[in-house]
Amino acid sequence: MDLKSFIRDIPDFPKPGIVFRDITTLLRDSQGLRYTIDTLKDKCDRLSPDYVVGMESRGFLFGVPLAYQLGCGFIPVRKPGKLPGQVIAAQYQLEYGSDRLEMHIDAMAPGSKVLIVDDLIATGGTATATAQLVQEAQCHLVGFAFIIELKALGGRNQLPDVPIVTLIDYD
Ligand code: PRP
Ligand code: ADE
Repeated sequence: MDLKSFIRDIPDFPKPGIVFRDITTLLRDSQGLRYTIDTLKDKCDRLSPDYVVGMESRGFLFGVPLAYQLGCGFIPVRKPGKLPGQVIAAQYQLEYGSDRLEMHIDAMAPGSKVLIVDDLIATGGTATATAQLVQEAQCHLVGFAFIIELKALGGRNQLPDVPIVTLIDYD
């Protein structure tokens, strides 16, 4: 299946010069959605995570169904002030700004195997910050999975040396 054909390009969103890769047109297609989750599941099975960690908000859309298919739990990493319990935090850079991510301090038992899932990797700032949270929680990062990789931004070069699964890339 040509998954890229389901992604809609929106120029100059959210800022001039950014081409926004819109996954809502993939999510709304029943066959595209099923193929996406099934393919991620096949590619991530061998990593045998105990948990999928997904980042707000688009990481939730793919992380929960993937965790369900892998038969593991899901842990949300959220933007500041959203999680009700005690949190650990990490700062990160975006292609178009900077922010902070938080995770419950007791989300996972130390030593748990973790797969980090998001819709897209651009600069890698979000994924790197999430990997820091996993490390701070004394868990073992087994890999990353993204639907889309924006290769020109070189985000994968920022990431720790673990397997990286991607389904669609842009030069
Ligand atoms: C987007 C995207 C990734 C991140 C990738 O999220 O969903 O999480 O940017 O960029 P990076 O590799 O440069 O860090 P965004 O922060 O726009 O939030 P959203 O999912 O809530 O729209
Ligand atoms: N997140 C960061 N850069 C993005 C882009 N170009 N399209 C969609 N989401 C993004």
